[in-house]
Amino acid sequence: MAEQTWNPEDYGRNARFVTDLGMPVVELLAPKPGERILDLGCGDGVLTKKLRDRGCRVVGADASPDFIRAAKALGLDARLMDGQDLSFREEFDAVFSNAALHWMKQLEKVIDGVFRALKPGGRFVAEMGGKGNIARIEAATRRALQKRGLEKKVPEPNAYPSPGEYRTLLEKRGFQVRTLEYFPRPTPLPKDLKTWLSTFRKDHLAVLEPGDREVFLEEVQEEVRPFLCDAQGRWSADYVRLRFAAFKP
Ligand code: BEZ
Repeated sequence: MAEQTWNPEDYGRNARFVTDLGMPVVELLAPKPGERILDLGCGDGVLTKKLRDRGCRVVGADASPDFIRAAKALGLDARLMDGQDLSFREEFDAVFSNAALHWMKQLEKVIDGVFRALKPGGRFVAEMGGKGNIARIEAATRRALQKRGLEKKVPEPNAYPSPGEYRTLLEKRGFQVRTLEYFPRPTPLPKDLKTWLSTFRKDHLAVLEPGDREVFLEEVQEEVRPFLCDAQGRWSADYVRLRFAAFKP
């Protein structure tokens, strides 16, 4: 089975929009100086650093050793950790997460670990892909894998819960949900879809013969072009977001 891997340089070049689009989630978090905050799925730490720059005592956690190295290079307290197995106990005023929770498919384990990590009264504020996220990209990608008989070698890399499902999971664990929004957010891409796939679907490319990779990328890109590329050649991705703030009583 192939797994998604991350290259911080590649990410910095092709995926900085993820950090930029995280700012509304930072505003929803409304971090206060001195607060101790966990950035769950901190990636290369660029957004984590923004929280620190606002005076917060931030810990970043990520399952990618390469991302943790990049975050440490920014001088951050960054810990290599699986978000589905968090080890913190009542330490944080808030747990924050931007565009990372959909990589942690065991949703209940994540929610459980976040609940334990928060102090009473602490908040869980996050944005992730919601039901239907990147549906066109996924469908085209799955078709291209199936055509090659490779679909079983690449499990679905992400989980995109519906708002109802996620609210139920939060409440079942004891969270009080203050806001939970679900909305399409077509997301302009800095380059083309092939670049997006090369950054976020490394697990798919890893199972292909090297000589077939470019053909695969072309095939997926051409299938979605009528929906995701405008007349000026500008690409976007069909993101759907779930953004919420929930409290531990
Ligand atoms: C997302 O942010 O929704 C996302 C990004 C890359 C791959 C899958 C989902």
